[in-house]
Amino acid sequence: MKILLVGGAGREHAIALALKRSSKEPRISCFADLVNPGINKVVKETGGEFFLGSINDHGAIIRAAQKVGADFVFIGPEEPNFHGVPDRIEESGIKCIGAGRKVAELEMSKASMRDLQWKYKIPGRLWYKKFKTYEEALPYIQEYAESVALKPARQSGGKGVKVIEDFQVYLQEDKRKVKKEHAEMIVKEHMKDYDDIDYKLLIEERVWGPEYTVQCFTDGRTVVPMPAVQDNKHAFDGDLGLETGGMGSISCGMNLKWGVDDDRAIITEEECRRSADIVKLMIDAIQKDTGQRYHGIAAGQMMLTSVWGPTVIEMYSRLGDPEAGNVMTALKTDLVEICEGIIEERLNTVKVEFEDMAVAVKAVCPEGYPDKRDLAKGHPVALEGAGEGVLWASAEETGGVVRTGGSRVVECVGTGDALPEASAKAEELTKSVRLTDGWRTFHRKDIGSEKSLLRRVQLGSMARDIYKYRERKGLLGKRMIWVPGKGLVEVG
Ligand code: GLY
Repeated sequence: MKILLVGGAGREHAIALALKRSSKEPRISCFADLVNPGINKVVKETGGEFFLGSINDHGAIIRAAQKVGADFVFIGPEEPNFHGVPDRIEESGIKCIGAGRKVAELEMSKASMRDLQWKYKIPGRLWYKKFKTYEEALPYIQEYAESVALKPARQSGGKGVKVIEDFQVYLQEDKRKVKKEHAEMIVKEHMKDYDDIDYKLLIEERVWGPEYTVQCFTDGRTVVPMPAVQDNKHAFDGDLGLETGGMGSISCGMNLKWGVDDDRAIITEEECRRSADIVKLMIDAIQKDTGQRYHGIAAGQMMLTSVWGPTVIEMYSRLGDPEAGNVMTALKTDLVEICEGIIEERLNTVKVEFEDMAVAVKAVCPEGYPDKRDLAKGHPVALEGAGEGVLWASAEETGGVVRTGGSRVVECVGTGDALPEASAKAEELTKSVRLTDGWRTFHRKDIGSEKSLLRRVQLGSMARDIYKYRERKGLLGKRMIWVPGKGLVEVG
């Protein structure tokens, strides 16, 4: 069995380790734009090859797959999906785990994702407005006085999303100014390099509640959910600071329990099932609209809101990062067997199981991340100790030296019977990482801690009380939105 893995981040290191555990003893090769030391180790141990190049260059990836005689290619990140790499690989006669270009639209364009959700009346849909230019959005922002989320309409690595609360009437002019400035920045800065999409800016109603990611394997017929994971986006403890690609993540059982024998949970099992149902409905809808079969991973980045209960914030066409560290660690079933089930469209015949365990992932970042990545880049890294449980992320190995790539350098994975225990183990692992030129690192200590869990369980409970009340009254998802030019409109 030979596999070519595409991508070189922490997520792909987690996937490589899960593939390596397979009883089929696969020879794992990797194609990435830098040599991730962790993946390189797996490649060497299993007798594979490492290829360097652009992960969007389908020609080079196909040549690499042919060279190693790959039975299938596993695409880790989203950009190759957006560039149609899985489609070209399949056309060349090689099997591929990865969302094709048309179905990956679910992630690539938040505007298309919302259009689809409203077209098929899929639960958990937020009110939104999409714009091609800043100028088009301007009159709307001028008139609209509500709390909103401003988002780049294209997936751009989680950058640029801003929630602006607009409750105080006396601050409305100032809030309008902030909204205008941020909308302009989204279109003119964050979206400037993307000419592969029509709509650039999304304005969405603001909602609140605990967030979580439900990642699913799918062969287009069967959708198999993995344990729900909560990513911690903000840079600093207490959910403060800028949003990042994810500073760490927690999971326990299927529904984010406190511990294996402690049923306090951020979401209920029913909410977990409903979330997976929503992901399935999204997959069905995109397949129906495009005629393309979905082979790979689809994930709902969800929020438990007071309006809907499980609500879609965005979709992923791949595993999340750092969420992959959680689910790949807990995965009990042979990942190669799951991949074969997907490829042969018989995923329903594979019994996919996860360990009932708590997993906490903590990302360690060089100072400078996330907004001054140039400062965070190029520092030599040493990993002291065995490195067991440490995923290499944004790190590059050249000439035997490992240097930081400017983002999260490693992801430390702790496990246990309860999240605080897993968090403490991950915390211990963070001590093994050192930048040898003395440049400082930072990470979040609070991920999976009792205090942070308590806050999240309480937030979930507050949102649940309200959406359950609405549900009892037949009002789930129904609300009045003030739309410029139209006045108050009932949506839902
Ligand atoms: N955890 C955020 C992402 O994977 O995009």
